[in-house]
Parts: sequence; structure tokens; C-alpha cells
Amino acid sequence: MPTIYKSQNNKEFFNPFGPPLGYFKLPSEVIKRMNQLMTKKLDDFSNFLVGKVSHELKFDQEIINYIGSQIVDFAVEYHNKAIERNNFNSTTQPTPKLKINAGWFIRQFNGEYNPNHFHSGCTLSSVGYLSLPENIEKEWEEDYKDHHPSHGHINFTYGTHTQYNISSIMIKPQVGDFYIFPASLYHCVYPFYTSGERRSFSINMTVI
Ligand SMILES: [Fe+2]
Repeated sequence: MPTIYKSQNNKEFFNPFGPPLGYFKLPSEVIKRMNQLMTKKLDDFSNFLVGKVSHELKFDQEIINYIGSQIVDFAVEYHNKAIERNNFNSTTQPTPKLKINAGWFIRQFNGEYNPNHFHSGCTLSSVGYLSLPENIEKEWEEDYKDHHPSHGHINFTYGTHTQYNISSIMIKPQVGDFYIFPASLYHCVYPFYTSGERRSFSINMTVI
């Protein structure tokens, strides 16, 4: 059955194309706990990832269980809203179940970066921010004087830019910010030059 648009009002604007992104602010106790959990002895995951960064550390089962319980409701809500949007609210979906395929910490230091990539073997992916270099705001102040600031930002790209749609969105990391996005959505992370660590984590998920 194709998606068929049916107007609900005499005038409306809608966004039928392109993937949605979800944003959720992690509570401070979750950030604290995740930073503690990162000090565990964890396996190196860098052979399976593209980042040109110091450490990519694979979540063990304890970390998967902990962070999974914190974000599951939000991920399911994102999934449901995307399905509703794609069907113009005309179908009711069964409650989905979420499987966490993998998760990992990303420890990025000055001059390091994450090349353009997507995540395979799952339907949804995500990123959450756990800490930033102490003086990065100073670097951002300078970078934002430029017409195209990007230092330490994540950049999502999709499709072709036209006068009526965008094909690129940049996000400045802030501690506690958590984003969910389709695993197939291309993204990259630009380098920064302040000393200190930009620490984030990613989780790959599949909706069943
Ligand atoms: Fe990624």
C-alpha cells in the first residue's frame, strides 16, 4: 500500500521526505554513571569502526543493559513517530521491541576525527555526549566567527540540496545531549584543536 497524502486542513505544510532525527537530554546521573562505566576494562572495538580517534571501547553486557534501560522508551517513541509521519497518522502499529546490537565509547582528542560513514547491521543508531574539553567554548567562539563553523561538530548529510530542502545538518555537542537517527544516515565528526577529551558513546539498535 503506497503512502497517500490526504489533507486534513484547508492549508498545511508537511515534510514527507527525508529521515527524522530525535533529540533527548540525558539526566545528569546517567552521564555520571556512563563516565564511571567507561573506566571498566573494556575491549578495543576500533577494528570494527572507522574513527581516527584514540579509543573506541566496546560496551560489555552491564553497560548495554544500563544504557538500554535509559533510552529504550525514547527510541520506541522515535520509531513510532517516524512510522506515523510516514503514514500521515493513518495506521496503528504494534508496540515494537528494541534489540541493542552493540554500543561503544568514543574517546576523541585534538586533531582526531571520524570520517563520513553509516552504521551497518542495524536499523537505528545514536550518539550521546559525556564530556568535552574544558576550554572548547573558547575554540568555538573563534570558529563561530567563520561563516562555516564545524570544529568538533557532527555533520549529518542526506540527499541533494535544493532551494526547498536541506541536505546537511551540523550539531554542536553538549554534555548530556543524545540523538537518535536511522543507521543508514551518513555522518562524520570534524576535528577540534583544544587539548582534552571529547567523549561520546554510540548505540546500534534494531526494532523488532
Ligand atoms: Fe557513527
